[in-house]
Amino acid sequence: MRAPLFSKVVVHSFAREIPLRKVPNDDLAKLMDTNDDWIRKRTGIQTRYWVDEPTTTSNLGSASAKKTLALAGCDQVDAIIAATLSPDFNFPGIGVQIQNDLNLDCIPAYDIRNQCSGFLYALEMAGALIETGVYQRILVVGAEVHSTGLDRTTRGRDIAVLFGDGAGSCIVERKDCCHAPGPVFSLLGTELHSDGAFVDQLWCEHPGSAHFPIRVSVDLVEQGKIFPTMNGKLVFEHAVRRMVEVSMSLLGKLNRQPRDLRLIIPHQANLRINSLVAKQLGLDEEQVFNTIQKYGNTTAATIPIGFSHAVEECDLKPGDQILSAAFGSGFTWGAAVFEVVD
Ligand code: ACO
Repeated sequence: MRAPLFSKVVVHSFAREIPLRKVPNDDLAKLMDTNDDWIRKRTGIQTRYWVDEPTTTSNLGSASAKKTLALAGCDQVDAIIAATLSPDFNFPGIGVQIQNDLNLDCIPAYDIRNQCSGFLYALEMAGALIETGVYQRILVVGAEVHSTGLDRTTRGRDIAVLFGDGAGSCIVERKDCCHAPGPVFSLLGTELHSDGAFVDQLWCEHPGSAHFPIRVSVDLVEQGKIFPTMNGKLVFEHAVRRMVEVSMSLLGKLNRQPRDLRLIIPHQANLRINSLVAKQLGLDEEQVFNTIQKYGNTTAATIPIGFSHAVEECDLKPGDQILSAAFGSGFTWGAAVFEVVD
């Protein structure tokens, strides 16, 4: 399996936008048959944040992206790559709305749909476009509004308790053009995978063009077919196995070992998944940077939100190596390795 290794690509100016409304587990217990103890023990989640009307996914993405541009001290980029599973509309995707909100020149705006792996898919694409000289500076955004797409009744409790809203963003840039104040991370390599045999094990079926004569109906809405469903145990097992596998594979291609890592900033689907991944990589719990307790699973926004916190809280030093890994619907999964630049 090929994995692009990069020599000319840096990533910097991580920012986040979190909605104001904090939703503790106890608030969910008022809507469905669940409780704080179950959610904390089974997932690690204590709170998540939900938007209030009229805030949308593109609003969160644009607000985060504005902070990223301010941190980077720039007002133009060559392209936008936006990842989300919860766009404002069926089409177009949120990339064009971010372009418009930020008043950027009529640059290309790509939309990535790889769910929890979305940020890593966007990052690899940005890295490849920079490494090959197509562009010099790309804005990468992950943004989600899950709260309006969840079944907030007991029928949907296995999924509704897991997800939160939020956005994260960063700049991916050619190393020799970068003047960002830092911290700046070299992108050393990425590795991505998918296995569509599991498409119906974690999905949201309606509305979709696979359905005739129209994509959704009142009946289907009443049956809850517009909400995501998941085979939780199967997803859990695959997530642990695949995140460990892809991390080891990419580290091997970079001639590195897990012990070389200062930190992993993984996707946040379940605290128990991340503990098992760390254990199987031979890492200590303190080497895993988790945000799920506060935010739940914010899907494509999770990894850049994690980086934005790690930059503020972890006293990162030049030479520190950081690994990110993610797994999600599709199934899709992947990893990326970074090094803090001098
Ligand atoms: N509150 C209380 N009880 C609940 C809840 C809830 N919110 N949800 C489920 N339960 C009940 C179940 O009904 C079941 O009851 P039963 O034993 O009487 O049948 C019991 O709790 C155990 O349910 P399980 O599904 O076996 O619980 P499990 O320990 O597997 O945890 C979970 C469920 C948290 C969903 C876990 O399977 C998981 O995290 N899966 C992976 C999620 C993931 O990685 N997603 C990928 C990214 S998402 C994306 O890409 C969009």
